[in-house]
Amino acid sequence: MSFPPAPERFFASDNFSGAHPRYVSALERANSGHMMAYGGDAITKHATSLFEELCGTDVDVLFTFNGTGANIVALGSLLQSAESVICSEWAHIHVDETGAPEHMLGIKLQDVNSPDAKVTTAHITAAASALGNVHHVQPGVVSITQATELGTVYSIEEIRAVCDTAHSFGMRVHLDGARISNATASLGGDVATFRALTFGAGVDAVSFGGTKNGMFGAEAVLLRRGVASDRSGFIRKQNTQLPSKMRYTAAQFVEALTDDLWIQTAGHANAMALRLYNALSHIESLQIVRPAVNSLYPVLPVAVKERLQAWNFFWDWDLSRSQVRWMTSWDTSPDDVDAFAAGVLAAFSAQ
Ligand SMILES: Cc1ncc(COP(=O)(O)O)c(C=O)c1O
Repeated sequence: MSFPPAPERFFASDNFSGAHPRYVSALERANSGHMMAYGGDAITKHATSLFEELCGTDVDVLFTFNGTGANIVALGSLLQSAESVICSEWAHIHVDETGAPEHMLGIKLQDVNSPDAKVTTAHITAAASALGNVHHVQPGVVSITQATELGTVYSIEEIRAVCDTAHSFGMRVHLDGARISNATASLGGDVATFRALTFGAGVDAVSFGGTKNGMFGAEAVLLRRGVASDRSGFIRKQNTQLPSKMRYTAAQFVEALTDDLWIQTAGHANAMALRLYNALSHIESLQIVRPAVNSLYPVLPVAVKERLQAWNFFWDWDLSRSQVRWMTSWDTSPDDVDAFAAGVLAAFSAQ
């Protein structure tokens, strides 16, 4: 069989894309002269104040190099000795961080069975039965991912219920927001939506992702003041996530937060996933669900999958059912989507 020309960009991951030109320009502007290191510079102070404004409540802001590190700093700042973290079986902290939270923090993760990758109030209530028993690790933090690792999105009400239940047992709530921008764009697309689904709903710590949304290795940890440890700065350094030339990380967030670029780029990625869905949803065997954010999880006949992966690479997701992940990015174009969809149709017609 012959495939049409491959799209210019891949549909494997939002990590495959380069940096948005505006972040590259921001890096260039920050690249001038000497400045205080380790966050003592004016750019970091500016980015911090923009985050404080965004959150609408008192937060401590800690910039980090990557998302795994952000999660470790956030969890380390919320946990006490002998406590565990409740998370879904799909959670990145559980399956995709090489055991880093356990290794770096010496903690236990308690993953719960969750076909849609969401933690529910029932999970939290069940785990709480261990509280007070000296033989059991004490559930101290609930970690949710928004958008989840399966592309599902918690509603604001669901997050509020998770937080209320966790707090009623004295637990704190961490939100892994590697794709918080995509969730924000999906649920309303403005700053009020971000506030409502994070600190407004009761979340205590957010790992705010920048890299998957067009930045050059930039993440931030946002900690509710008074709940998270005031030792978070030490926790970051001890876990090797304190950038010495922090101005470069911060400059990208200044650019993102000044005019909501972070919401626009994520909204674009979401729209491209929807375009792909619209082009292919008539193929029932794909079993694709209308995407809430920037990913689709189709099921493909093995032969079709292998032909397509050789033509334009993407990742397997659940090998046991030949499920894959297609993901769009801030720079995915409508032409890319149309070319990719044409390839999928060609692979099916050659069956
Ligand atoms: C849900 C989630 N959390 C965190 C991360 C951060 O990972 P990294 O340490 O590669 O930046 C990722 C990246 O794939 C992710 O998907």
